[in-house]
Amino acid sequence: MEKTAQLDIAGNLYSLPIVEGTEDDKALDITRLRNDTGYITLDPGYGNTGACISSITYIDGDRGILRYRGIDIAELCERSTFMEVCYLLIYGELPTAEEFAKFKDQVLFHSLIHEDMKSFFTSYPGHAHPMAILSAMVCSLSVYHPQLMEAMQPATERDETIARLLSKVRVLAAFAYKRSVGEAFVYSRPELDYLSNFLHMMFTTPMRSYQPDPVIRKALDVLFMIHADHEQNCSTSTVRMVGSSKANLFAAISAGICALWGEWHGGANQAVIEMLEAIQRDGSNHRKYIDKAKDKNDPFRLMGFGHRVYKNYDPRASIIKKYCDEVLNHLGINDPALEIAKGLEEAALTDEYFIERKLYPNVDFYSGIMYRAMSIPTNMFTVMFALGRLPGWIAHWKEMIEEPAMKIARPRQVYTGPTQRPYVPLAQRSAK
Ligand code: SDX
Repeated sequence: MEKTAQLDIAGNLYSLPIVEGTEDDKALDITRLRNDTGYITLDPGYGNTGACISSITYIDGDRGILRYRGIDIAELCERSTFMEVCYLLIYGELPTAEEFAKFKDQVLFHSLIHEDMKSFFTSYPGHAHPMAILSAMVCSLSVYHPQLMEAMQPATERDETIARLLSKVRVLAAFAYKRSVGEAFVYSRPELDYLSNFLHMMFTTPMRSYQPDPVIRKALDVLFMIHADHEQNCSTSTVRMVGSSKANLFAAISAGICALWGEWHGGANQAVIEMLEAIQRDGSNHRKYIDKAKDKNDPFRLMGFGHRVYKNYDPRASIIKKYCDEVLNHLGINDPALEIAKGLEEAALTDEYFIERKLYPNVDFYSGIMYRAMSIPTNMFTVMFALGRLPGWIAHWKEMIEEPAMKIARPRQVYTGPTQRPYVPLAQRSAK
């Protein structure tokens, strides 16, 4: 028997079907609401609105739970690798040895970009933000693969497109970094794995062949796994929105990169480090900044704190904080930013303003300290987030286009502008 909720509008009763998820999450199905009642719902920021049904990632914000295809993030960070998590998110299951070998070979095979594209990078000024370059380059990539313009490709071609994107976005990111530091581009090496190749393309120079430190390599694996997906966040919803028009995957991912750039989303990891550096310059008085964050007349926000879904400690922040200590101790780095961050966290977690609003450190609070320890420059932090989130974006795009009843995303609105009025010729318009 279908469960329903009753909606009473002006004495008329309407039944709304109740949809229940596998983790007991519940929704009112309002797909017929406007047709049946003439009403729509209003939910700026979509805080209470489900855009889709998905089986990729589960988050329980109250209990601080994050699982990819049912597997807890802490267990994956402990036992898996980023490449394996890419496969899990995109294809739904952990790969067999044979499937994994084939997947890795496919990704490795696509480790080069068309030589013409190198000139695109040098056309940017050296100070260009790598996120601007990355989003443009990902979209431009599609012109070299016209067959990708078909969003609804056959499954085997789609797998090739996915492998291409996973491989080449990493190259574009490394090339954007090399452009920003004025160094020659470095190509992938066939004997290196996915992340070692990325570090190689970033840090090898004609004078030095970069050898990834195993601790750094593992920490990067964990960072990318932690960022790999997060259900319907702003950038993933953007990828779904763009993909729903049947725009190709590269265009959808390019749009997701742009959405991620905002400092309330993925841009927060850069904003956190800039905030910590400002606090350090201001005498490391973190109490002053806690008070600024609470002051409604002050636009300052404690970057890296708060979350639309997590009303408990972001499980990813806990994992990153642990690796932060490990990486900095291993490298013998004493980063004042880490002490300031820990001081801010300690002060905030015992402050009524933050407790009342359930504001905890999120994934961006400590990640920048890790990236800095790895010699990643601040303006590349959000690019690192994009590289980590890429498999999640792809998984959601694939889940959506494989949905037989896929529809173009087209929200409605409540109009509050002028009612009908006549055109006024210029000569009759008096100055306001
Ligand atoms: C990511 O959605 C995802 O899953 C995103 C992400 C992912 O993996 O994809 O997890 C990645 O984007 C993490 C968030 C990174 N952003 C930041 O760290 C920026 C700082 N935080 C915020 O601006 C804010 O917390 C958001 C944007 C993250 C969430 O905003 P909401 O859910 O719209 O909450 P809100 O702005 O309505 O805040 C509720 C209250 C307000 O106070 P009152 O009006 O109730 O008095 O909390 C206050 C806010 O002023 N508040 C903060 C605060 N965040 C919220 N006050 C001070 N500092 C903050 N950081």
